[in-house]
Amino acid sequence: MSEELVIDKSLTIEKQYEELIVLIKNFFNATDNAISIMANLTAILKQNIEKISWVGFYLSNGIQLYLGPFQGKAACSFIELGKGVCGSAALSQQTIIVPDVNKFPGHIVCDSDSRSEIVIPLIDDDDKLIGVLDLDSTSLNAFDETDKKYLEIICNYLVEELF
Ligand code: SME
Repeated sequence: MSEELVIDKSLTIEKQYEELIVLIKNFFNATDNAISIMANLTAILKQNIEKISWVGFYLSNGIQLYLGPFQGKAACSFIELGKGVCGSAALSQQTIIVPDVNKFPGHIVCDSDSRSEIVIPLIDDDDKLIGVLDLDSTSLNAFDETDKKYLEIICNYLVEELF
């Protein structure tokens, strides 16, 4: 499979996400290895959504979150449940959109250039926490309800297929 998996940037953001979802679903035909699929998923998001400066998974070991497959600068290895945006989304099991990271109490700084972020929890049918998907941007207000809608579709699909 080519690594040049790019979508048409002239499309509406909704259409771009729909095309991305088709590309992402193709990876599920290639392997059922969760780490491989999550690694390619982060790559395809980073390659195609220009506002993303960092995208990656933090996975649950039952006690805390540990760094999983990601694209971007090196990041912290562990995040405690309830701490930072990732730990808060994991504990509340709700997506969190942060328009300005400097206004989120307890935000964990991994990249000082990051200005906004969105974190989507991965929860299975038994309400068990699998982890979170974290996306950062160097722009303020980078993520909105449209990103939330499509990223939740992607995360739900991932959980249904792999966990
Ligand atoms: N900012 C996140 C930490 C992870 S990094 O952004 C990669 C947080 O507050 O949970």
